[in-house]
Amino acid sequence: MTDTTYDHSARSDSLLDVSELTVFHGQLCAVDQVSFHVNAGEVLAIIGANGAGKSTLLRTIAGLHKPSSGRISYKGEEISKLAAHRRVRKGISLVPEGRRLFASLSLEENLQVGAQNAAPGPFNIGYVYDLFDWMHERRNQKVRQFSGGEQQAVAIARALVANPQVLLLDEVSLGLAPIVIERIYEFIPNIVTQGIGVVLVEQDVTQGLQVATRVHCLLEGRTSLVGTPQELSPSAIERAYFGSDVTHGPAAQEGHV
Ligand SMILES: Nc1ncnc2c1ncn2[C@@H]1O[C@H](COP(=O)(O)OP(=O)(O)OP(=O)(O)O)[C@@H](O)[C@H]1O
Ligand SMILES: [Mg+2]
Repeated sequence: MTDTTYDHSARSDSLLDVSELTVFHGQLCAVDQVSFHVNAGEVLAIIGANGAGKSTLLRTIAGLHKPSSGRISYKGEEISKLAAHRRVRKGISLVPEGRRLFASLSLEENLQVGAQNAAPGPFNIGYVYDLFDWMHERRNQKVRQFSGGEQQAVAIARALVANPQVLLLDEVSLGLAPIVIERIYEFIPNIVTQGIGVVLVEQDVTQGLQVATRVHCLLEGRTSLVGTPQELSPSAIERAYFGSDVTHGPAAQEGHV
């Protein structure tokens, strides 16, 4: 499927099903009739330029913004009106843009906060110490002493100890060096094989395409393209990302299409 059509038939097998979701900030329609689903074991990349509505979409799924219309279903249950902390308990975790860690607390204290509303499941603090092998020996250090990449890993670890089945990642690569980004993304194959569905937001399209099973592009709040990384051409992605009247954006010249 390389256009923007969406099959609205029942998807009882999908973990997360978003249907015609519309979200306003005041007068501004930030997300406009967006639909997608995520199955267990899948990584859906939401791509789009600044202000396209990516964070609003993830935050609405997490329960931090109220949609004006549309449905969010999780394992077949409508959750659109559920409070954010109850969504966490059911297994939906967000790694927010900008990390939002407790800088004056230690690494382990941050993880303990993440575990407070945990759903039942395999991930605990010991598990994430295995997943990110440097963490255990630095568990008592304050998070403010960590590098940007390390803090991003702590933010991901904090979301994982809540035992998500749907993990929402908002720009985890932002501001990090390529080698650090590579290391940050290494954990994804490990967790999706355990039946987790991942929705990741990326402005860096190359990065998004590398890890995604499917790609969903937003342009000014609307779906402009959906498909698999294999079937979407760079020029189609570029048009969907920047809008049809822009053919050679600066990011394209840097290989970011
Ligand atoms: N809390 C808010 N109040 C008012 N307007 C907002 C709020 N949050 C976002 N917006 C606006 O909604 C639109 C979508 O913003 P959003 O942050 O969802 O985009 P984004 O795709 O995540 O952008 P970026 O890539 O810069 O993070 C933008 O025009 C933004 O200015
Ligand atoms: Mg954002």
